[in-house]
Amino acid sequence: MSNKKKIIIDCDPGHDDAIALLLASRADNLKILGVTTVAGNSEIEHTVRNARRVLDYAEVFDVPVYKGCNHPMMHNLYRLTGAIIHGEDGLGGPDIPPPVTPIEKEHAVDFIIKTLRESDEKITLIPTGPLTNIAMALIKAPDIKDNIEKIVIMGGAVYTPGNITSAAEFNIYVDPEAAKIVFSSGCNIYLNTLDVSMKAVFYNEDIENLRAQGDKVSVIVAELLDFFASTHLDHFGIKSCPVHDALCVGVLIDDSLIQYERTYLDVSVNDPLTRGETVADLWGITGKETNCFISVKVDRDKFVNMIFDHMKKPYKR
Ligand code: RIB
Ligand code: CA
Repeated sequence: MSNKKKIIIDCDPGHDDAIALLLASRADNLKILGVTTVAGNSEIEHTVRNARRVLDYAEVFDVPVYKGCNHPMMHNLYRLTGAIIHGEDGLGGPDIPPPVTPIEKEHAVDFIIKTLRESDEKITLIPTGPLTNIAMALIKAPDIKDNIEKIVIMGGAVYTPGNITSAAEFNIYVDPEAAKIVFSSGCNIYLNTLDVSMKAVFYNEDIENLRAQGDKVSVIVAELLDFFASTHLDHFGIKSCPVHDALCVGVLIDDSLIQYERTYLDVSVNDPLTRGETVADLWGITGKETNCFISVKVDRDKFVNMIFDHMKKPYKR
């Protein structure tokens, strides 16, 4: 039995998803069993292709990539993609060559179910996009819960305003019904929200230091951050760049990166104003059992240095 933590990353690349994939591939303590993709930042045809071409660029040819759900559970994507932030194909900016490795034929949801059922060790799921694939897997095969070590999710906002509406964070907003299913599943959930990801940001100086490392992965990550920072400045007026999704990998590399508090959290699904809002019962008024850990504090410097250190490392199978 390997001493590496087995993980599956479910993502919608997406600039920060791409950096999460690269960080995980360079982590000595993580074994990526597969990367599953979902519609979110862009249509599924783009997100699956982006996951494959980022991994191929970083010479991670042996990690399989699977295509998942092409729209949220209860509605269409409505062009509700993150194109304004990530570009039309979901990975605007750097010139990353087309993929050279084929996409797997098996559906992402079936891969998640089969892998969890067959694994002799518990597996950690890292969803960094809308939770459609994860919810569908839990509905189709509730038994997989027993082999999930934890689910480390990028999503939501508790103390901080949303980034797609004033109430909601993008991943949860795109598929709130899926999020509601995941949060009521009884799984061991760690939710990394905007409350920490909007603090663990990269500044231009950090991006230049990353570029100065000079290796191909550090340079391409700097170029991904160049684009991501530019759209954050244009759209949100902020002069810093969050890397939301990579925090979910970072905290598995070093659990001191993020501090959590245990709470009961629910997701608004019906009200048009609050749809996708993640509401934590911080005062315990519902009397309900707690169902997740929410992120409350992050060590930005530790995160930035972790990215610097890992991006310049070669990929070891
Ligand atoms: O709100 C941030 C999240 O939405 C990140 O996962 C980003 O990639 C986008 O999907
Ligand atoms: Ca994402």
